[in-house]
Amino acid sequence: MKLWGGRFTKETNELVHNFNASIGFDRKFYHQDIRGSIAHVTMLAKQGIIRDEEKDKIIAGLQSIEEDITSGTLPITAEHEDIHSFVEANLIERIGDAGKKLHTGRSRNDQVALDMKLYVRDEVSEMKGILLNLMNTLQALMEEHTDTYMPGFTHLQKAQPVTLAHHIGAYMEMFKRDYTRLCDIYERMNYCPLGAGALAGTTYPLDRDCTAQLLDFYAPTLNSMDSVSDRDYLLELLSAMSIMMMHLSRFCEEIIIWNSNEYRFIELDDAYSTGSSIMPQKKNPDIAELIRGKSGRVYGALTSLLTTMKGIPLAYNKDMQEDKELSFDAIDTVKGCLTLFDGMISTAAFRKKEMERSAAGGFTNATDAADYLVKNGVPFRDAHGIIGQLVLLCIDKNCALDDLTLDEFKAVCPAFEADIYDAISLSTCVTRRNTIGAPGQEAMKRVLDANKKQLAEWAK
Ligand code: ARG
Repeated sequence: MKLWGGRFTKETNELVHNFNASIGFDRKFYHQDIRGSIAHVTMLAKQGIIRDEEKDKIIAGLQSIEEDITSGTLPITAEHEDIHSFVEANLIERIGDAGKKLHTGRSRNDQVALDMKLYVRDEVSEMKGILLNLMNTLQALMEEHTDTYMPGFTHLQKAQPVTLAHHIGAYMEMFKRDYTRLCDIYERMNYCPLGAGALAGTTYPLDRDCTAQLLDFYAPTLNSMDSVSDRDYLLELLSAMSIMMMHLSRFCEEIIIWNSNEYRFIELDDAYSTGSSIMPQKKNPDIAELIRGKSGRVYGALTSLLTTMKGIPLAYNKDMQEDKELSFDAIDTVKGCLTLFDGMISTAAFRKKEMERSAAGGFTNATDAADYLVKNGVPFRDAHGIIGQLVLLCIDKNCALDDLTLDEFKAVCPAFEADIYDAISLSTCVTRRNTIGAPGQEAMKRVLDANKKQLAEWAK
C-alpha cells in the first residue's frame, strides 16, 4: 500500500514502481531519516500539534526501528517506494494510530532535503578526518626529507634541484586548500530545510528554529521553495571532490613515474602493489593507477548532477532523486582513494640515493652556474650564453658541469674561480634557495612549523 494510495484506483505498474523507487539506495541514510523524524515530532509536541504521549510513542517506535535495521532483524524491503515510506509504514505497524501523526506538517520533499543534508554533513566531517590523516602523513614525510635532493621538473625535463620535502609540500598545499573547501561547504550548507513542507511551508505553527537547533544547524533555510530544491551543496561537494581527485591523480601519476624501472625514485610496498598473471617479474602500481582512473568517475558525477539540475523549474521535481546514487558513489570513492593513497605513500620506500643521483645529472645546477658568473660581474644574458656553451661541451664529453676542470671553465670565461665547484654543488643549489616557499632548509622549516600549527588547529 502506497503512502499516497488514496487518490488512486489502480495498483502501480510494476516497472513504474521499480523505476520510481529509491529505496535501493536511499536506505543508506536511514539513521538520518530517523534522526530528522525524531526532531520533527519533538517540535510538534512542543508546539502542541501532537500530544506528549504520542511523541514519546513515536520516538520509542522510531528508535526500535533504527535498532532493528542496524542489527539486521528488520530488513529494508523493496516493496516500499523509499526509506521515508518504509520507516513510516513500519512505525504505524509497530505503534498503531500515533504513528500516523509522524508526517504532520511535513512533506517528503523537505524530509529528503533534510536527510540528504544530514548525510552529506556527516560525510564531509568524516572526509575531513581522512584528509587530515593524509596531511599528517605528508607532514611526517616532509620532516624526514628536507635533505633528500631530487630534480625538480618542468615539461618533465630536469630543471633545478629541489628536495623531496619541497615536492611533497606542493601537494600539501593542494590538500590544505581541499580541506578549506570542505570547511566552506559545511558553512554554507548548514541551514535546515525541515519545515519547508512540499514547497510553500505549512499552516501548522511549526517552530523551525527549534528543529534547526535540535539537528545542529545554524538556522532554518529562508525560502521554502529553495529549501526543497536546492542541491548547490552537493554540486559544491562534487566540485571540491573532483578537485581533490585531480590532486590525488596528479600525485599518483608521479608515483607511477617514480616507481618505474627507469626512475626508481621510490619502491611501493608489496602490500600496495600487484603482480601479473603472465610476467613473473612484474610488480605493478595498480593502486595509484586506480586512484588516477577513479577521478573520471567523480568528475562524471559532477557533470551528471549539473546537467540534471540545469532545466528544473521550481520547486521539487523527481529529477532530483538522481542526486543520490552518484553522490553516494562519489563520496565513497573519494574516501576510499584518500585512505588507500595514505596507506600507499606511508609504506613506500623513498630511494634517496637514486633521487640524488638523478638531481646531480641533467644540468639542474646550470642556473646556479649562471648566477655565479653574475655575482662575479658578468651580465645575466651573457652568463646564460656561457653556461649554455659549457653544457654543450659537457654533453659532448658525457659529463656534468661539476666534472669540468677549472681550466675548461676558464677557457670559456675567465670569471670562473676555484669556488665554482662549491657554488654549483647540489647542496648549495638547494640550501641557498630560501625565499618564502623555496626548497632551502631554512625556508622549509618555516613552512613545516606553519603546517604543524595548522594541522593541530584542524585536529581540534
Ligand atoms: N525519493 C525522493 C527523492 O529522492 C524523495 C522525495 C519524494 N517526493 C515526492 N514528491 N515524490 O527525491
